[in-house]
Amino acid sequence: MRSKYLFLLLLITSIYVGVSAKNHSSGPSLRRSDFPEDFIFGSATSAYQYEGATDEGGKSPAIWDHFSRTYPERTKMHNADVAIDFYHRYKDDIKLMKELNMDAFRYSISWARLIPSGKLKDGVNKEGVQFDKDLIDELLANDIQPSMTLYHWDHPQSLEDEYGDFLSPKIVEDFRDFARICFEEFGDKVKMWTTINEPYIMTIAGYDQGNKAAGRCSKWVNEKCHAGDSSTEPYIVSHNVLLAHAAAVDEFRKSKIISHDSQIGIVLSPRWFEPYHSTLLKIKKQLNELLLMKLDGKHLDPVIHGDYPEIVKKYGGNKLPSFTEEQSNMLKNSSDFVGVNYYTARFATHIPEIDPAKPRFKTDHHVEWKLTNHSGHIIGHWDERGLILSHPEGLRKILNYIKDRYNNIPVYIKENGINDNDDGTKPREEILKDTFRIEYHDTHSQQLHKAIVEDGCDVRGYYAWSMMDNFEWEHGYTARFGLYYVDFVNGLKRYPKDSVKWFKRFLKRSIGETKEEEVKEMSRADMNETLHEQVEFGEYSGFVASFMATNQSKREQEKNRCSSDLFYSSFGVLKEIEDSSSFYRL
Ligand SMILES: *[C@@H]1O[C@H](CO)[C@@H](O)[C@H](O)[C@H]1NC(C)=O
Ligand SMILES: *[C@@H]1O[C@H](CO)[C@@H](O)[C@H](O)[C@H]1NC(C)=O
Ligand SMILES: *[C@@H]1O[C@H](CO)[C@@H](O)[C@H](O)[C@H]1NC(C)=O
Ligand SMILES: *[C@@H]1O[C@H](CO)[C@@H](O)[C@H](O)[C@H]1NC(C)=O
Ligand SMILES: *[C@@H]1O[C@H](CO)[C@@H](O)[C@H](O)[C@H]1NC(C)=O
Repeated sequence: MRSKYLFLLLLITSIYVGVSAKNHSSGPSLRRSDFPEDFIFGSATSAYQYEGATDEGGKSPAIWDHFSRTYPERTKMHNADVAIDFYHRYKDDIKLMKELNMDAFRYSISWARLIPSGKLKDGVNKEGVQFDKDLIDELLANDIQPSMTLYHWDHPQSLEDEYGDFLSPKIVEDFRDFARICFEEFGDKVKMWTTINEPYIMTIAGYDQGNKAAGRCSKWVNEKCHAGDSSTEPYIVSHNVLLAHAAAVDEFRKSKIISHDSQIGIVLSPRWFEPYHSTLLKIKKQLNELLLMKLDGKHLDPVIHGDYPEIVKKYGGNKLPSFTEEQSNMLKNSSDFVGVNYYTARFATHIPEIDPAKPRFKTDHHVEWKLTNHSGHIIGHWDERGLILSHPEGLRKILNYIKDRYNNIPVYIKENGINDNDDGTKPREEILKDTFRIEYHDTHSQQLHKAIVEDGCDVRGYYAWSMMDNFEWEHGYTARFGLYYVDFVNGLKRYPKDSVKWFKRFLKRSIGETKEEEVKEMSRADMNETLHEQVEFGEYSGFVASFMATNQSKREQEKNRCSSDLFYSSFGVLKEIEDSSSFYRL
């Protein structure tokens, strides 16, 4: 009787799962062993988003401390004073990484913790150095490679106050000093380095839209901005960011402490773009040129060839600073690899006329991006939970684009992930069931695999964003990207979401096991899990049974109706994502 009941439930569940395409109990489509032998899997985050302890251990206020304290309404009334308290809890969190079989951890060094005034002449904070040393040692003791980012948006506020940070060329020498100290202190143990995280986002969000610190822009773009100029400042910032990158790489390559097998690179944030109107060839041709800019050729061309692409010069005009010969030589070949943070895609279209009264960096190149194309198709897959339109094919296309345009330079996916939104009212149990996240990582890993195996793209690593829910900049704690749930109300306790289980299986090291045995073993575990889930699922079985009793055409109709309703009812949210004041992951 019992086994018959279980069998029936199993049958219903598996059909249900098939229909709804929420097939996560089938486990990962691929395994670690499907990827090249030395491929790295890790997780990523930044110091400011995890660390907390903002006023502890000799750290000075970073620009985000200032931004969230001065304009709390611009960070959902949240700040990162405590964040997820990684400063005190990193050992426990590293244990969790180890359990997941992660090979690597991408983290950043807090400039404000290491050199509190921002200037080397004022001294290095020994306690700050010790924190990062201890963290690195703990990672290595657990066989997890540290991948250190020099700059992930959290420089000391004093540099902002003194000379407007990246608006001034003075930042270049201060950044050079900071980088040199990092290489001197940590370069003997850290082999993977990145310079600047997402120059495009820091430029556009900080100086064109004003939604991220330093929060500057033209008043007509965002009335919350107290100062700024969206048409000129982004050009200056992005130029100085590139020079700061080059200065850091110069220090890296001169360093006697850095070992010859270490590498350094920049981390970009391309979206993939499909044409808004696929049949208009003229626009398509224009777009192909312009997309280079949107795909971040603005920052990639300089670090490889030493100059901006022609199209960027054409549209930037005299607002775009130029490089001296010396600067250009320093920039050339200054990235051993390209770090790619990939999240989503958009349709792109050409804007023929720009209102001369409303100039801004974002539209200077006459490209506009859209969520739907000319015939109303939405880009990517929209899930009611995941607030990012999932377009995994875009990852493969970007990797091919880099391969073709930049001579198959090595690439690391330095970030990839998806969030759901929690204004503090969602039950934890609901958030832990993150099928949409499993689906996202599963489909992206498949496209990544195709790019490597079928297309020959030289991709060497993949870092999921992120191990833990964390402080997500202007979204505060409402955007949950973690594989682990962090209870921000009750003692920051960590709870595994379902995606933890998926990652454990995906990353399982099967030493001594043949693949066949592994597959068999996994399918037994799947079966167990399916049965286990049904017990939890008990109360829904009535619904499942009645759902299944309706015939196939009815179900199809349901599906179609739901998805078109979903599109319209969710459009408000989608719009919000695109809205300049609420700018989810570009
Ligand atoms: C919009 O996208 C859909 C789905 O990819 C495609 O079939 C259609 O041709 C596109 N429409 C235009 C005008 O490009
Ligand atoms: C680029 O820089 C690397 C590291 O310094 C060096 O090994 C390589 O030869 C350089 N390549 C070119 C084309 O200059
Ligand atoms: C679910 O099934 C679909 C269709 O077979 C597949 O494309 C997708 O990758 C699967 N997802 C997972 C998480 O297994
Ligand atoms: C399945 O579950 C049983 C009972 O909980 C357990 O003893 C067994 O080891 C599990 N098998 C696998 C492959 O996980
Ligand atoms: C299936 O459902 C549709 C829509 O409700 C109905 O018109 C049709 O008669 C049903 N077919 C069968 C075989 O029950």
